Amino acid sequence: MGEFVTVTTDDEGVATLRLDRAPVNALNSQVWVEFRDAARRVSGDDSIGAVVLWGGPKVFAAGADIKEMQTKPFQEFFARAGVLQEAFNELARLPQITIAAVNGYALGGGCELSLTADFRYAADNARFGQPEILLGVIPGAGGTQRLARLVGIQRAKEMVYAGGMYSAEESLAMGLVDKVFPAGEVYDKAVEAARRYAKGPYALRMAKKAVNEGIEMGLDEALRLETTLFTACFATEDRQIGMDSFLAEGPGKAQFVRR
Ligand code: CAA
Repeated sequence: MGEFVTVTTDDEGVATLRLDRAPVNALNSQVWVEFRDAARRVSGDDSIGAVVLWGGPKVFAAGADIKEMQTKPFQEFFARAGVLQEAFNELARLPQITIAAVNGYALGGGCELSLTADFRYAADNARFGQPEILLGVIPGAGGTQRLARLVGIQRAKEMVYAGGMYSAEESLAMGLVDKVFPAGEVYDKAVEAARRYAKGPYALRMAKKAVNEGIEMGLDEALRLETTLFTACFATEDRQIGMDSFLAEGPGKAQFVRR
């Protein structure tokens, strides 16, 4: 368990990765390491079927810790900045389905943290942005890459070049956010959805891998990956369960075991 990043699990296979570093969940270098460790722990735990990333009811995360960055000499920062990228890569590569539940600000590294998730559920008071340019830097944890892949190059350029903030509704309209809820409900809604995914078949891992890794490849190679993963589904108990259940009772009734 980290000092600022904790992992709690419920009895329905959902883990919550909770960031708690008052007052604004600034991501200092200790937080980077704690996220990396939390991702490794969750990734290797087969009892976890889905994950919710949450910064608590006030702020998701206001970005990398500017006070810490201001004190680091270039050489030290150069040596350590890769840890942040690595930590977020490990979150993005979690085999489980992940949902970021965003209350309040998700800025800079906070927005990038939400981009590591499969889905972003936003509170109606959420504000997203990549304001790094206002500090004289650029996003350093996926904001020029995952963001552009998600919302398109033009939207990403506007966000990164101008450094503005976007409401939950604006973020929904551009595809940065998947759903908007009243602030008091967003975490519960994310957990509810995560529980549905946690009941899903092992094939969800194949689906996530196929989409996330395939998008980085040329079409021929990506389609070969899809075939490989589709075929691999036939080695799972859940494939047998899913098809037996369909033939006996029709669609949507299978009780999967995530194996
Ligand atoms: N790092 C360190 N401290 C931060 C911080 C950050 N990213 N954001 C806010 N704080 C601190 C403030 O300095 C302030 O501290 P003090 O009480 O000691 O003065 C405290 O948190 C509260 O902040 P505000 O008084 O500014 O509160 P607010 O409600 O008026 O505004 C805010 C909140 C909109 C989040 C505003 O603080 C803000 O714009 N923060 C900076 C956001 C930002 O630029 N993020 C990008 C960081 S760089 C990055 O993330 C690089 C990357 O890609 C990895």
